[in-house]
Amino acid sequence: MKPLIPALRIAPMGVVPRLPSPAPVSARLLSTDAPGGAPGPQETIPGTRIPVFRTVAAVRAWRRGQLLARRSVGLVPTMGALHAGHLALVRAAARDTHAVVVSVFLNPAQFGAREDLASYPVTWDADAAALARLDGALADQAQAQADGGGGRVAAVFAPPTSELYPSGFPGQEPDSAGSFVTITPVGGLLEGRSRPTFFRGVATVCMKLFHAVQPDRAYFGQKDVQQTVVVRRMVRDFCVPTRIVVEPTEREPDGLALSSRNVYLGARRRRVATVLSRALRAAADVFRAGERGRGAILGAANHVTASTLAEEERKPEAKRVRFEVDYISLSDPDTMEEVEVADPDRGAILSGAIKMLPVEQPQDGEDLGHSNGPAVRLIDNIILEPPGTRTA
Ligand code: PAJ
Repeated sequence: MKPLIPALRIAPMGVVPRLPSPAPVSARLLSTDAPGGAPGPQETIPGTRIPVFRTVAAVRAWRRGQLLARRSVGLVPTMGALHAGHLALVRAAARDTHAVVVSVFLNPAQFGAREDLASYPVTWDADAAALARLDGALADQAQAQADGGGGRVAAVFAPPTSELYPSGFPGQEPDSAGSFVTITPVGGLLEGRSRPTFFRGVATVCMKLFHAVQPDRAYFGQKDVQQTVVVRRMVRDFCVPTRIVVEPTEREPDGLALSSRNVYLGARRRRVATVLSRALRAAADVFRAGERGRGAILGAANHVTASTLAEEERKPEAKRVRFEVDYISLSDPDTMEEVEVADPDRGAILSGAIKMLPVEQPQDGEDLGHSNGPAVRLIDNIILEPPGTRTA
């Protein structure tokens, strides 16, 4: 692993004028009495020495220590309910940086007023155990490697809402007043059209997390491709000194992209939930066979969704699954504006969203999924790389 931070240059004694007593400069820089109060007794992930920070002041004080020890920091922002997709990001961060911080924060600002914030799965104990196990595996890996291996899970940042919204939570309505980061036009397209406050909430909380943790690198999943475009644009436009790294989508063996929301599906809808990844794959195959036109590429995806829907419609209500296609899109990789042609030099993004409707005529004892199986929105995407480059 390459250190991200070059050795600190210390000015020779006598060159820099000494600062007046009483507080030497290092002591002043290291003081932790920033707004938010001094850290309390240290909470850790059970069975480990991984600290859990609940305040911005505490995570910043820790971060300063990492800087002085010349250790690079990677951040993996999450909303908890961790699955293998999240853990792959932690592994990637440990591959590249010394100290990985996982943030666990269910961000109310990115949920619409009528969305599933109240029922969003919260699995703190399982999340903590998964991070402890992964850190154990990273430690074993480090021992087995001659160069000392990669990084470790070094901290969890799990603040309460009041810590990241110190002036009070501004609300979830499009016209809520408050301090927001908005990234347009990309934040208003596709997912942003269906969920008008979503990317405002994502960009706002990522900016707060970046300011709190000050990571050298932050890791995001391609699963939420528009989120990566929004965050990259934010980092560039606000001169944030963090490099954004995007890792591939982790999938179930049948192709369904892992998501914390998959627990809502239940058995009947889970069977049909692969329709989106199948549709996108069919479209990607058409592109890889040499087609560049929007009609042909998206036509292949639409054929899969329409034939799956028709097949379900032929079944009795007690067995069938219904879904609505929100969008299937072919867009520019940088702006996410729709394109008529997948430019062979730039590639394109194929993305889609479907809404799985609640099952009809639930049967006695049927597994309806978490929270009794409400409507679930699933998203997925495939990046169409320019021919001759790596395929996603
Ligand atoms: P969350 O849905 O918890 O996802 C956290 C990170 O895991 C995101 O970068 C997401 O893209 C990634 N991820 C989710 N499923 C994945 C999969 N199947 N394969 C690879 N990566 C996957 O995304 C959020 O939280 C929030 O919007 C957040 C960025 C934390 C801001 O609140």
